[in-house]
Amino acid sequence: MRVAVIGTGYVGLVTGTCLADLEHEVTCVDTEREKISRLKRGEIPIFEVGLEPLVKRNAQAGRLSFTTDLAAAVRTAQVVFITVGTPSTDAGEADLTFLKGAASQIAEAIEGYTVVVNKSTVPVGSTRLVQRIIEERLEGMHEFEVVSNPEFLREGSAVNDFLHPDRIVIGSEGQRSIGVLTELYRGLNAPLVITDPASAEMIKYASNAFLATKVSYINAIANICEAVGADVREVALGMGYDKRIGFEFLRPGPGFGGSCFPKDCRALVDISSKAGYHFRLLEGVLEVNEEQMRLMVEKVRRRLDPLAGARIGVWGLAFKANTDDLRESPAVRICRLLLGEGASLAAYDPAAMEAAAGELPGAAFAKDPYEAAAGADLLLLLTDWDEFKWVDFRRLKGLMARPVIVDTRNCLDPLTLRRLGFEYEGVGR
Ligand code: UGA
Repeated sequence: MRVAVIGTGYVGLVTGTCLADLEHEVTCVDTEREKISRLKRGEIPIFEVGLEPLVKRNAQAGRLSFTTDLAAAVRTAQVVFITVGTPSTDAGEADLTFLKGAASQIAEAIEGYTVVVNKSTVPVGSTRLVQRIIEERLEGMHEFEVVSNPEFLREGSAVNDFLHPDRIVIGSEGQRSIGVLTELYRGLNAPLVITDPASAEMIKYASNAFLATKVSYINAIANICEAVGADVREVALGMGYDKRIGFEFLRPGPGFGGSCFPKDCRALVDISSKAGYHFRLLEGVLEVNEEQMRLMVEKVRRRLDPLAGARIGVWGLAFKANTDDLRESPAVRICRLLLGEGASLAAYDPAAMEAAAGELPGAAFAKDPYEAAAGADLLLLLTDWDEFKWVDFRRLKGLMARPVIVDTRNCLDPLTLRRLGFEYEGVGR
Protein backbone atom coordinates (compact mmCIF):
# COMPACT_ATOMS: atom_id res chain seq x y z
CA MET A 1 0.00 0.00 0.00
CA ARG A 2 1.11 3.58 -0.51
CA VAL A 3 1.34 5.39 2.80
CA ALA A 4 2.12 9.00 3.80
CA VAL A 5 3.14 9.82 7.37
CA ILE A 6 2.68 13.48 8.36
CA GLY A 7 5.07 14.50 11.14
CA THR A 8 8.42 12.74 11.34
CA GLY A 9 8.91 12.95 15.09
CA TYR A 10 9.27 9.97 17.32
CA VAL A 11 5.99 8.22 16.53
CA GLY A 12 5.99 9.18 12.84
CA LEU A 13 9.48 7.95 12.12
CA VAL A 14 8.99 4.64 13.92
CA THR A 15 5.56 4.10 12.33
CA GLY A 16 6.74 4.98 8.82
CA THR A 17 9.85 2.85 9.04
CA CYS A 18 8.07 -0.19 10.46
CA LEU A 19 5.29 0.06 7.85
CA ALA A 20 7.98 0.14 5.14
CA ASP A 21 9.46 -2.94 6.77
CA LEU A 22 6.05 -4.59 6.35
CA GLU A 23 6.64 -3.94 2.63
CA HIS A 24 4.43 -0.89 2.21
CA GLU A 25 5.66 2.09 0.21
CA VAL A 26 6.03 4.91 2.74
CA THR A 27 6.78 8.62 2.45
CA CYS A 28 7.53 10.46 5.70
CA VAL A 29 6.77 14.18 5.65
CA ASP A 30 8.03 16.95 7.90
CA THR A 31 8.17 20.74 7.71
CA GLU A 32 11.73 20.86 9.07
CA ARG A 33 14.02 20.86 6.02
CA GLU A 34 17.15 20.11 8.03
CA LYS A 35 15.55 17.02 9.58
CA ILE A 36 14.44 15.69 6.19
CA SER A 37 17.89 16.28 4.63
CA ARG A 38 19.52 14.40 7.50
CA LEU A 39 17.09 11.50 7.15
CA LYS A 40 17.78 11.37 3.41
CA ARG A 41 21.47 10.98 4.28
CA GLY A 42 20.55 8.13 6.64
CA GLU A 43 21.09 10.16 9.83
CA ILE A 44 18.51 9.42 12.52
CA PRO A 45 17.50 12.48 14.57
CA ILE A 46 16.36 10.43 17.58
CA PHE A 47 17.95 7.84 19.83
CA GLU A 48 16.03 4.57 19.45
CA VAL A 49 17.38 1.03 19.63
CA GLY A 50 17.23 -0.80 16.28
CA LEU A 51 15.79 2.11 14.30
CA GLU A 52 18.84 3.17 12.29
CA PRO A 53 19.48 -0.13 10.48
CA LEU A 54 15.76 -0.45 9.75
CA VAL A 55 15.61 3.06 8.22
CA LYS A 56 18.71 2.32 6.11
CA ARG A 57 17.48 -1.07 4.93
CA ASN A 58 14.05 0.18 3.87
CA ALA A 59 15.37 3.39 2.30
CA GLN A 60 17.85 1.33 0.26
CA ALA A 61 15.07 -1.04 -0.78
CA GLY A 62 13.19 2.01 -2.11
CA ARG A 63 10.23 1.55 0.22
CA LEU A 64 10.96 4.48 2.55
CA SER A 65 11.48 8.08 1.47
CA PHE A 66 11.50 11.51 3.13
CA THR A 67 10.13 14.82 1.90
CA THR A 68 8.91 18.27 2.92
CA ASP A 69 6.29 18.16 0.14
CA LEU A 70 3.12 17.13 1.98
CA ALA A 71 0.83 17.56 -1.01
CA ALA A 72 2.85 15.25 -3.26
CA ALA A 73 3.00 12.54 -0.57
CA VAL A 74 -0.73 12.74 0.22
CA ARG A 75 -1.88 12.87 -3.42
CA THR A 76 -0.65 9.37 -4.20
CA ALA A 77 -1.28 7.80 -0.76
CA GLN A 78 -4.09 5.36 0.04
CA VAL A 79 -3.47 5.81 3.77
CA VAL A 80 -2.30 9.05 5.44
CA PHE A 81 -1.10 8.92 9.05
CA ILE A 82 -1.19 12.06 11.20
CA THR A 83 1.63 11.82 13.74
CA VAL A 84 2.16 15.46 14.68
CA GLY A 85 2.85 16.66 18.22
CA THR A 86 0.04 17.48 20.65
CA PRO A 87 1.89 19.37 23.41
CA SER A 88 -0.03 20.27 26.56
CA THR A 89 -0.89 23.85 27.41
CA ASP A 90 -0.21 25.24 30.90
CA ALA A 91 -3.80 24.33 31.84
CA GLY A 92 -3.16 20.66 30.99
CA GLU A 93 -5.21 20.83 27.78
CA ALA A 94 -3.85 19.21 24.60
CA ASP A 95 -2.82 21.83 22.02
CA LEU A 96 -4.33 20.81 18.68
CA THR A 97 -2.77 23.50 16.45
CA PHE A 98 -0.52 21.04 14.59
CA LEU A 99 -3.30 18.49 14.21
CA LYS A 100 -5.71 21.04 12.70
CA GLY A 101 -2.97 22.38 10.40
CA ALA A 102 -2.17 18.88 9.16
CA ALA A 103 -5.87 18.13 8.54
CA SER A 104 -6.30 21.29 6.41
CA GLN A 105 -3.20 20.57 4.36
CA ILE A 106 -4.23 16.96 3.82
CA ALA A 107 -7.65 18.13 2.62
CA GLU A 108 -6.00 20.38 0.00
CA ALA A 109 -4.06 17.45 -1.42
CA ILE A 110 -6.35 14.39 -1.25
CA GLU A 111 -7.05 12.63 -4.55
CA GLY A 112 -9.24 9.53 -4.75
CA TYR A 113 -10.47 7.47 -1.76
CA THR A 114 -8.08 8.03 1.16
CA VAL A 115 -8.05 6.79 4.74
CA VAL A 116 -6.72 9.43 7.15
CA VAL A 117 -5.41 7.89 10.37
CA ASN A 118 -5.04 9.80 13.61
CA LYS A 119 -2.17 8.27 15.55
CA SER A 120 -1.29 11.18 17.83
CA THR A 121 -2.70 11.10 21.37
CA VAL A 122 -5.60 13.53 21.08
CA PRO A 123 -8.62 14.41 23.22
CA VAL A 124 -11.75 12.42 22.67
CA GLY A 125 -13.59 13.91 19.70
CA SER A 126 -10.48 14.87 17.71
CA THR A 127 -10.98 12.21 15.05
CA ARG A 128 -14.39 13.77 14.34
CA LEU A 129 -12.75 17.22 14.35
CA VAL A 130 -10.28 16.09 11.65
CA GLN A 131 -13.22 14.56 9.74
CA ARG A 132 -15.05 17.93 9.83
CA ILE A 133 -12.02 19.99 8.77
CA ILE A 134 -11.39 17.76 5.76
CA GLU A 135 -15.10 17.53 4.88
CA GLU A 136 -15.50 21.34 4.83
CA ARG A 137 -12.57 21.78 2.47
CA LEU A 138 -13.27 18.86 0.17
CA GLU A 139 -16.96 19.62 -0.31
CA GLY A 140 -17.60 16.08 -1.49
CA MET A 141 -14.92 16.13 -4.23
CA HIS A 142 -13.15 13.02 -3.00
CA GLU A 143 -14.13 10.14 -0.74
CA PHE A 144 -12.25 9.77 2.53
CA GLU A 145 -12.63 8.33 6.04
CA VAL A 146 -10.90 9.36 9.27
CA VAL A 147 -9.87 6.65 11.70
CA SER A 148 -8.37 6.69 15.19
CA ASN A 149 -5.49 4.24 15.57
CA PRO A 150 -3.60 5.10 18.77
CA GLU A 151 0.02 4.08 19.22
CA PHE A 152 1.37 2.17 22.21
CA LEU A 153 5.09 2.56 21.56
CA ARG A 154 7.54 2.92 24.41
CA GLU A 155 10.68 4.94 23.88
CA GLY A 156 13.65 2.61 23.92
CA SER A 157 11.64 -0.37 22.62
CA ALA A 158 9.47 1.37 20.02
CA VAL A 159 10.48 -0.77 17.02
CA ASN A 160 9.82 -3.97 18.91
CA ASP A 161 6.53 -2.57 20.29
CA PHE A 162 5.39 -1.67 16.76
CA LEU A 163 6.29 -5.01 15.22
CA HIS A 164 5.01 -7.09 18.17
CA PRO A 165 2.04 -5.18 19.58
CA ASP A 166 -0.24 -6.51 22.34
CA ARG A 167 -3.21 -5.20 20.34
CA ILE A 168 -4.09 -2.94 17.43
CA VAL A 169 -6.92 -0.50 18.11
CA ILE A 170 -8.95 0.79 15.18
CA GLY A 171 -11.68 3.36 15.86
CA SER A 172 -13.81 3.95 12.80
CA GLU A 173 -17.36 4.53 11.71
CA GLY A 174 -16.95 3.01 8.24
CA GLN A 175 -16.44 -0.58 7.11
CA ARG A 176 -14.23 0.37 4.16
CA SER A 177 -11.52 2.05 6.26
CA ILE A 178 -11.55 -0.87 8.72
CA GLY A 179 -10.84 -3.15 5.75
CA VAL A 180 -7.98 -0.93 4.58
CA LEU A 181 -6.31 -0.83 8.00
CA THR A 182 -6.78 -4.55 8.56
CA GLU A 183 -4.97 -5.10 5.27
CA LEU A 184 -2.26 -2.57 6.19
CA TYR A 185 -1.46 -4.42 9.43
CA ARG A 186 -1.80 -7.92 7.97
CA GLY A 187 1.91 -8.61 8.59
CA LEU A 188 1.47 -8.18 12.37
CA ASN A 189 0.26 -10.88 14.66
CA ALA A 190 -2.00 -9.16 17.19
CA PRO A 191 -5.65 -9.00 18.24
CA LEU A 192 -7.59 -6.23 16.52
CA VAL A 193 -9.88 -4.11 18.67
CA ILE A 194 -12.35 -2.56 16.26
CA THR A 195 -14.44 0.15 17.84
CA ASP A 196 -15.81 3.67 17.42
CA PRO A 197 -13.37 6.65 17.26
CA ALA A 198 -14.24 8.07 20.70
CA SER A 199 -13.63 4.70 22.39
CA ALA A 200 -10.32 4.26 20.53
CA GLU A 201 -9.17 7.71 21.69
CA MET A 202 -10.26 6.89 25.23
CA ILE A 203 -8.39 3.54 25.18
CA LYS A 204 -5.11 5.40 24.73
CA TYR A 205 -5.66 7.81 27.65
CA ALA A 206 -7.12 5.13 29.88
CA SER A 207 -4.14 2.83 29.22
CA ASN A 208 -1.45 5.43 29.89
CA ALA A 209 -3.27 6.76 32.97
CA PHE A 210 -3.69 3.22 34.31
CA LEU A 211 0.03 2.46 33.86
CA ALA A 212 0.90 5.77 35.54
CA THR A 213 -1.46 4.80 38.37
CA LYS A 214 0.42 1.51 38.78
CA VAL A 215 3.71 3.39 39.09
CA SER A 216 2.35 5.91 41.63
CA TYR A 217 0.71 3.05 43.52
CA ILE A 218 3.93 1.08 43.86
CA ASN A 219 5.81 4.27 44.77
CA ALA A 220 3.32 4.89 47.57
CA ILE A 221 3.63 1.25 48.70
CA ALA A 222 7.44 1.64 48.61
CA ASN A 223 7.23 4.61 50.97
CA ILE A 224 5.12 2.59 53.41
CA CYS A 225 7.49 -0.39 53.09
CA GLU A 226 10.39 1.81 54.16
CA ALA A 227 8.49 2.91 57.25
CA VAL A 228 7.39 -0.59 58.32
CA GLY A 229 10.56 -2.52 57.44
CA ALA A 230 9.20 -4.41 54.39
CA ASP A 231 10.94 -4.79 51.02
CA VAL A 232 8.88 -3.39 48.14
CA ARG A 233 10.58 -5.69 45.63
CA GLU A 234 9.32 -8.73 47.53
CA VAL A 235 5.90 -7.10 47.78
CA ALA A 236 5.79 -6.41 44.01
CA LEU A 237 6.86 -9.98 43.29
CA GLY A 238 4.15 -11.36 45.52
CA MET A 239 1.57 -9.08 43.91
CA GLY A 240 2.72 -9.72 40.35
CA TYR A 241 2.05 -13.46 40.44
CA ASP A 242 -1.63 -12.59 40.67
CA LYS A 243 -2.55 -12.60 36.97
CA ARG A 244 -5.08 -9.86 37.60
CA ILE A 245 -2.20 -7.58 38.68
CA GLY A 246 0.83 -8.75 36.63
CA PHE A 247 4.53 -7.96 37.12
CA GLU A 248 4.86 -4.99 34.79
CA PHE A 249 5.01 -1.36 35.91
CA LEU A 250 5.53 -2.22 39.55
CA ARG A 251 9.10 -0.92 39.79
CA PRO A 252 9.33 1.93 42.29
CA GLY A 253 11.53 4.89 41.45
CA PRO A 254 11.85 8.66 41.57
CA GLY A 255 8.46 9.10 39.84
CA PHE A 256 7.28 8.72 36.27
CA GLY A 257 8.23 11.17 33.53
CA GLY A 258 8.64 11.39 29.78
CA SER A 259 6.58 12.95 27.03
CA CYS A 260 3.48 10.81 27.64
CA PHE A 261 2.44 9.83 31.17
CA PRO A 262 2.49 13.26 32.83
CA LYS A 263 0.95 15.00 29.78
CA ASP A 264 -1.68 12.34 29.17
CA CYS A 265 -2.70 12.16 32.84
CA ARG A 266 -3.12 15.94 32.94
CA ALA A 267 -5.06 15.85 29.68
CA LEU A 268 -7.38 13.13 30.99
CA VAL A 269 -8.04 15.12 34.18
CA ASP A 270 -8.92 18.06 31.90
CA ILE A 271 -11.11 15.94 29.58
CA SER A 272 -12.93 14.53 32.64
CA SER A 273 -13.55 17.89 34.22
CA LYS A 274 -14.95 19.26 30.94
CA ALA A 275 -17.19 16.21 30.80
CA GLY A 276 -18.45 17.02 34.30
CA TYR A 277 -16.51 14.36 36.23
CA HIS A 278 -13.91 15.20 38.87
CA PHE A 279 -11.21 12.54 38.38
CA ARG A 280 -9.84 12.63 41.95
CA LEU A 281 -8.04 9.30 41.61
CA LEU A 282 -5.91 10.54 38.71
CA GLU A 283 -5.22 13.86 40.45
CA GLY A 284 -3.92 11.76 43.33
CA VAL A 285 -1.69 9.79 40.95
CA LEU A 286 -0.12 13.06 39.76
CA GLU A 287 0.25 14.34 43.32
CA VAL A 288 1.98 11.14 44.47
CA ASN A 289 4.32 11.54 41.51
CA GLU A 290 5.27 15.12 42.44
CA GLU A 291 5.75 14.10 46.05
CA GLN A 292 7.97 11.17 45.05
CA MET A 293 10.50 13.50 43.44
CA ARG A 294 10.60 15.64 46.58
CA LEU A 295 11.01 12.54 48.76
CA MET A 296 14.14 11.59 46.78
CA VAL A 297 15.63 14.97 47.70
CA GLU A 298 14.75 14.30 51.34
CA LYS A 299 16.55 10.93 51.15
CA VAL A 300 19.68 12.80 50.07
CA ARG A 301 19.21 15.47 52.72
CA ARG A 302 19.00 12.85 55.50
CA ARG A 303 22.53 11.74 54.60
CA LEU A 304 23.96 15.13 53.65
CA ASP A 305 22.67 17.86 55.91
CA PRO A 306 23.14 20.66 54.95
CA LEU A 307 22.85 20.23 51.21
CA ALA A 308 24.45 23.62 50.60
CA GLY A 309 28.07 23.10 49.65
CA ALA A 310 27.74 19.28 49.41
CA ARG A 311 29.19 17.54 46.34
CA ILE A 312 26.85 15.08 44.69
CA GLY A 313 27.69 12.73 41.84
CA VAL A 314 24.65 12.04 39.64
CA TRP A 315 24.19 8.93 37.49
CA GLY A 316 21.44 9.29 34.90
CA LEU A 317 19.47 12.26 33.59
CA ALA A 318 17.09 10.76 30.99
CA PHE A 319 13.50 10.05 32.13
CA LYS A 320 14.25 6.32 31.87
CA ALA A 321 16.99 4.06 30.46
CA ASN A 322 17.68 3.56 26.74
CA THR A 323 16.58 7.01 25.70
CA ASP A 324 18.17 10.47 25.47
CA ASP A 325 14.81 12.10 26.23
CA LEU A 326 14.77 14.63 29.07
CA ARG A 327 11.13 15.68 28.78
CA GLU A 328 9.59 15.81 32.28
CA SER A 329 12.50 13.71 33.51
CA PRO A 330 12.30 13.16 37.29
CA ALA A 331 16.12 13.12 37.24
CA VAL A 332 16.28 16.66 35.86
CA ARG A 333 13.64 17.86 38.34
CA ILE A 334 15.51 16.34 41.27
CA CYS A 335 18.82 17.83 40.07
CA ARG A 336 17.19 21.28 39.86
CA LEU A 337 15.86 20.96 43.42
CA LEU A 338 19.33 19.96 44.66
CA LEU A 339 21.03 22.81 42.79
CA GLY A 340 18.42 25.16 44.28
CA GLU A 341 19.50 24.03 47.77
CA GLY A 342 23.09 24.99 46.97
CA ALA A 343 24.52 21.50 46.31
CA SER A 344 27.13 21.13 43.60
CA LEU A 345 26.47 18.39 41.01
CA ALA A 346 28.65 16.40 38.61
CA ALA A 347 26.34 14.42 36.32
CA TYR A 348 26.80 11.62 33.83
CA ASP A 349 24.27 10.04 31.45
CA PRO A 350 25.17 7.62 28.65
CA ALA A 351 22.92 9.39 26.10
CA ALA A 352 21.32 12.58 27.40
CA MET A 353 24.31 14.77 28.30
CA GLU A 354 24.24 17.13 25.35
CA ALA A 355 20.63 18.15 25.88
CA ALA A 356 21.08 18.26 29.67
CA ALA A 357 23.66 21.05 29.54
CA GLY A 358 20.92 23.53 28.59
CA GLU A 359 18.47 22.15 31.17
CA LEU A 360 20.79 22.24 34.16
CA PRO A 361 22.82 25.44 34.24
CA GLY A 362 25.16 25.30 37.19
CA ALA A 363 25.77 21.54 37.04
CA ALA A 364 29.06 20.03 35.88
CA PHE A 365 29.06 17.13 33.42
CA ALA A 366 31.38 14.14 33.56
CA LYS A 367 32.64 11.90 30.77
CA ASP A 368 31.94 8.64 32.61
CA PRO A 369 30.39 7.29 35.84
CA TYR A 370 33.75 7.40 37.66
CA GLU A 371 34.41 11.05 36.88
CA ALA A 372 30.89 11.95 38.09
CA ALA A 373 31.57 10.25 41.45
CA ALA A 374 35.13 11.53 41.95
CA GLY A 375 35.36 13.57 45.14
CA ALA A 376 31.62 13.25 45.80
CA ASP A 377 30.07 13.17 49.28
CA LEU A 378 27.19 11.10 47.88
CA LEU A 379 26.36 9.31 44.66
CA LEU A 380 22.76 9.61 43.45
CA LEU A 381 21.49 7.13 40.85
CA LEU A 382 18.46 8.56 39.02
CA THR A 383 18.05 6.60 35.74
CA ASP A 384 18.09 2.81 35.40
CA TRP A 385 20.82 2.43 32.73
CA ASP A 386 22.38 -1.07 32.69
CA GLU A 387 25.81 0.56 32.41
CA PHE A 388 25.65 1.54 36.09
CA LYS A 389 25.33 -2.07 37.21
CA TRP A 390 28.69 -3.02 35.69
CA VAL A 391 30.81 -0.31 37.29
CA ASP A 392 33.94 -1.40 39.24
CA PHE A 393 32.62 -0.40 42.69
CA ARG A 394 35.95 -1.09 44.41
CA ARG A 395 37.55 1.53 42.18
CA LEU A 396 34.57 3.83 42.69
CA LYS A 397 34.92 3.72 46.46
CA GLY A 398 38.52 4.87 46.20
CA LEU A 399 37.41 7.88 44.16
CA MET A 400 34.59 9.18 46.38
CA ALA A 401 35.09 11.55 49.32
CA ARG A 402 32.46 9.53 51.25
CA PRO A 403 31.18 6.11 50.07
CA VAL A 404 27.43 6.83 50.17
CA ILE A 405 25.00 5.75 47.45
CA VAL A 406 21.32 6.66 47.09
CA ASP A 407 19.85 4.43 44.39
CA THR A 408 16.40 5.77 43.42
CA ARG A 409 15.83 2.90 40.95
CA ASN A 410 16.87 -0.10 43.06
CA CYS A 411 19.38 -0.92 40.31
CA LEU A 412 22.32 -1.92 42.47
CA ASP A 413 22.96 -4.79 44.86
CA PRO A 414 22.97 -3.54 48.48
CA LEU A 415 24.75 -6.63 49.87
CA THR A 416 27.74 -6.32 47.55
CA LEU A 417 27.96 -2.60 48.12
CA ARG A 418 27.72 -2.85 51.92
CA ARG A 419 30.37 -5.59 51.87
CA LEU A 420 32.63 -3.16 50.02
CA GLY A 421 32.03 -0.57 52.75
CA PHE A 422 29.42 1.63 51.06
CA GLU A 423 26.47 3.16 52.87
CA TYR A 424 23.56 2.21 50.56
CA GLU A 425 19.94 3.36 50.37
CA GLY A 426 17.40 2.25 47.78
CA VAL A 427 13.65 2.88 47.51
CA GLY A 428 11.17 0.94 49.61
CA ARG A 429 13.65 -1.58 50.97
C1 UGA B 1 4.48 5.20 27.52
C2 UGA B 1 3.67 3.90 27.38
O1 UGA B 1 4.32 2.84 28.08
C3 UGA B 1 3.51 3.51 25.92
O2 UGA B 1 2.67 2.36 25.81
C4 UGA B 1 2.85 4.68 25.17
O3 UGA B 1 2.69 4.41 23.79
C5 UGA B 1 3.72 5.91 25.33
O4 UGA B 1 3.85 6.22 26.73
C6 UGA B 1 3.06 7.04 24.60
O5 UGA B 1 1.95 7.44 24.98
O6 UGA B 1 3.57 7.46 23.55
P1 UGA B 1 7.10 5.83 27.50
O7 UGA B 1 6.68 7.20 27.93
O8 UGA B 1 8.10 5.67 26.40
O9 UGA B 1 5.81 4.95 27.05
O10 UGA B 1 7.74 5.18 28.79
P2 UGA B 1 7.40 4.02 29.83
O11 UGA B 1 8.34 2.90 29.60
O12 UGA B 1 5.97 3.70 29.86
O13 UGA B 1 7.82 4.74 31.19
C7 UGA B 1 7.16 5.92 31.66
C8 UGA B 1 7.73 6.37 32.98
O14 UGA B 1 7.35 5.47 34.02
C9 UGA B 1 9.25 6.43 33.03
O15 UGA B 1 9.66 7.59 33.73
C10 UGA B 1 9.64 5.17 33.77
O16 UGA B 1 10.89 5.25 34.41
C11 UGA B 1 8.48 5.06 34.75
N1 UGA B 1 8.27 3.69 35.26
C12 UGA B 1 7.81 2.71 34.42
C13 UGA B 1 8.53 3.41 36.59
O17 UGA B 1 8.95 4.27 37.37
N2 UGA B 1 8.30 2.14 37.04
C14 UGA B 1 7.83 1.15 36.24
O18 UGA B 1 7.63 0.01 36.73
C15 UGA B 1 7.59 1.44 34.90
